[in-house]
Amino acid sequence: MQIELPRAAEVSQAFPAWRLTNPILARLSFEYPQPQEALHRFGLALSAQGQTEPALGILKAALALAPEEADLWNDLASAFYRAGQYAEAGAAQRRSLACDPAQPQGWLLLASIDSALGDAAAAEVGYLAALKLDPYLSEAAFGLGILCFGRRQFTEAVKWLRQSIASGGHHMGLYVCLGQALFLLGDFAAAVSALESAARFPSCDATVVEKLAQLKLIETCVRADAAAAVEAYGQIAGPHASDIDRVTATAFHFLSGFGYRAAAIRLGEWRLGRNPQDAVQRYLLAALRNEAIARAPDDYLVAYFDGFAETFEAKLVDALGYRVPEKLHALLAKTGRRFANGLDLGCGTGLSSPLLRPMVRRLTGVDLSRRMLEKADARRLYDDLVEAEAGDFLDQADEKFDLVVAADVVIYFGDLAPLFARIARVMEPGGLFAFNAETVEAGYRVLPSGRFAQALDYIEAVAAPYFTTVELQMTTIRLEAAQPVEGALVVLQRR
Ligand SMILES: C[S@@+](CC[C@H](N)C(=O)[O-])C[C@H]1O[C@@H](n2cnc3c(N)ncnc32)[C@H](O)[C@@H]1O
Repeated sequence: MQIELPRAAEVSQAFPAWRLTNPILARLSFEYPQPQEALHRFGLALSAQGQTEPALGILKAALALAPEEADLWNDLASAFYRAGQYAEAGAAQRRSLACDPAQPQGWLLLASIDSALGDAAAAEVGYLAALKLDPYLSEAAFGLGILCFGRRQFTEAVKWLRQSIASGGHHMGLYVCLGQALFLLGDFAAAVSALESAARFPSCDATVVEKLAQLKLIETCVRADAAAAVEAYGQIAGPHASDIDRVTATAFHFLSGFGYRAAAIRLGEWRLGRNPQDAVQRYLLAALRNEAIARAPDDYLVAYFDGFAETFEAKLVDALGYRVPEKLHALLAKTGRRFANGLDLGCGTGLSSPLLRPMVRRLTGVDLSRRMLEKADARRLYDDLVEAEAGDFLDQADEKFDLVVAADVVIYFGDLAPLFARIARVMEPGGLFAFNAETVEAGYRVLPSGRFAQALDYIEAVAAPYFTTVELQMTTIRLEAAQPVEGALVVLQRR
């Protein structure tokens, strides 16, 4: 984008009349005899008064007289930036840096503009250029910290945020961001310390206090008992305390996800003691204790997915990068086949249905969570939706399928032999069975998440009596505790 400037001759001609009719400009002309200087000051004064449009016009007039003035371009960019006109701000600031590239603050402004425009790569270039000129520019290190945080590069984010503090950066947002990054790295003690610094700012609000209290709960659980942790939470949160069942559920999730098994068990036992009917907690505790479990129990699945249905897609797809339906679909599409009768086993909210629908004549979805099925039903893409446990459905089915898809469902089964035998029974010879699994080195085992993981050779051995392998690819399934969960995409063909 180019910034249009008035013609210098027109500005020079109009300037005496402007000075006569505007007392502020008249006074400034007295102080600054050069017209471009007087106009520059006048533009800044208008901008400070919030008169954005007149300020932009006057600054452009000044630039018409002095188009090589880096400071003037800088001030025009700032005025555009404050007005939310980021593209114009970027163009003006690039002109400023072309006139004088040795401006650390100028690069910082350009990086902030690029960041506001959503161009993270350009913003990174700007922040790094600023730091090259002034290694102690704390705002530039802060900007890089925020950028890395946004990219989920938490170790890098912590490095830059700490550099910002070491260079004199001291504001609440800096400590909050550092605390959050440390938390997502599983360093709970350091996260608490950063949030404590944030909480000392007079501007600290209820959100920060609650976050600190929650981190303190998690961190206390790691080194003490759950009751002490809950008490620590209450002391910090005070009137800002949230529902303790919700708070401890979140804390349990993080402790388990970050591998603090003993602490998660302590908190899980505390939660189950408070609420013995909680099927989700009962199962997750059993999983953490590594009890022998053949598959996730129905009461857990129903309670968990009924409670999750509303936020499932936002959380799994948007926040955790879950793309298994798309990835399985791509493998099926590669075969170029069309199918007469498709089964979406554990269909959930029906994420696979828009992808499968064009390749199947008939599509049935099965799930034991009614709330998930309601979401699937709203898509109007299934010919039939059945509320049933997968194994029960397969045992009772009297039709044959030439396509079975189980996206993120096999992970709720440990021992796959009974499931595969049941799937094989309802499949046409030559039919395809597509699914994903999380992987371990040998056999299968339940993970602290309550999901199961299987070894690839175990899967192939269990499948061998009924299926041949068409595709087997390693992939990232989703994020867990900010880390990618690795697994496999598998397509089998019924013999
Ligand atoms: C992670 S979700 C995946 C949903 C969907 N396939 C997708 O890719 O978005 C797992 C779904 O499988 C269902 N599920 C798990 N085990 C099941 C079982 N034994 N019988 C029926 N449904 C089951 C759950 O209720 C849940 O809706």
